[in-house]
Amino acid sequence: MRIGILTGGGDCPGLNPAIRGAVFRALDFGDECVGIAEGWKGLLFGQTEPLDLVRVDEIIDRGGTILGTSRTNPLKSPELIQQTINNIAMLGLDAIVAIGGDDTLGVAAKLAELGVNVVGVPKTMDNDVSGTDFTFGFDSAVSVALDASRRLKDTAQSHRRILVLEVMGRHAGWVALYTGIGSGADYTLIPEVPLDWDAMTSQVLTAYRRKKYAFVVVSEGVEVTKVTTEELDDFGHMLLQNRGVGPQIARILEERTGISTRSATIGHIQRGGSPTLFDRILGSRVGVKAIEMIHDGEFGRMAALRGTEIDSIPLADAVNNLKSVPQEWVDLLKVFSK
Ligand code: F6P
Repeated sequence: MRIGILTGGGDCPGLNPAIRGAVFRALDFGDECVGIAEGWKGLLFGQTEPLDLVRVDEIIDRGGTILGTSRTNPLKSPELIQQTINNIAMLGLDAIVAIGGDDTLGVAAKLAELGVNVVGVPKTMDNDVSGTDFTFGFDSAVSVALDASRRLKDTAQSHRRILVLEVMGRHAGWVALYTGIGSGADYTLIPEVPLDWDAMTSQVLTAYRRKKYAFVVVSEGVEVTKVTTEELDDFGHMLLQNRGVGPQIARILEERTGISTRSATIGHIQRGGSPTLFDRILGSRVGVKAIEMIHDGEFGRMAALRGTEIDSIPLADAVNNLKSVPQEWVDLLKVFSK
């Protein structure tokens, strides 16, 4: 078979292991792999490169994606959808492996409905794709945030300050939640829980009185003020980093507590760097599974981590249904706010 592989949406560590896993497994079947440049954009414009063993052999520890990525949405018009389908035929592709988050997989689900032989591989540092226990990219991103937390706590302790760390994660609080619990933060704000200024101020002051510093983690998706006009991308998302939630929280906390407060936003630093072991293994496994699914004719489905197994689940179960932080986790977070 001739199999096209693409990576769409925000990059994250683990994409290269997934590409590599797919190519390695494809070789077992005697398939030919073709790398599609920059997500769905590469299919719109027919931009490809050969993907062989030499190209992928050494990429297991590289961050980002060797294929490039974009947030191009071919579902924006019927013409673009047709152009995508025509180019798949023109390139002689028998099947597509679409590696991406909710948006990329949403496109894959639609194309599968239209008869394209496509399988999905979930990725995102946000960990917000339904149907899979984890997405690769998340573990690496949280590891970076934990390292930043350790550093920020050192300086907060020295200066007897409050330090606020803003992390990414879009509208799901997983990155902030894991960073908060993993770093021993005194207060963690996630988009799933409405901001309670009094509760936060009182908890931060309690921790400060005990330790002479306090550390707060906030997700970029937390609503500090109502936002009405923002520029949207191809999939209708706003760039949350522009809201400056961390600096806003820090300013208001300083006003309310009278304690010197600083904030740090680590932004895209969370998306770069070598994948953690977890993300290398998960990426490799779902990449391998995608090729096996193609050979089993399981199109319109996605490779998903369920417990310790990699299963195949319908793409429709994964998309348009953000996996947000459930109440059990919010309760656990509260245990560590003392
Ligand atoms: O979806 C991954 C993510 O890193 C989000 O956490 C963040 O809100 C967004 O991408 C940033 O997008 P961009 O890379 O386009 O600035």
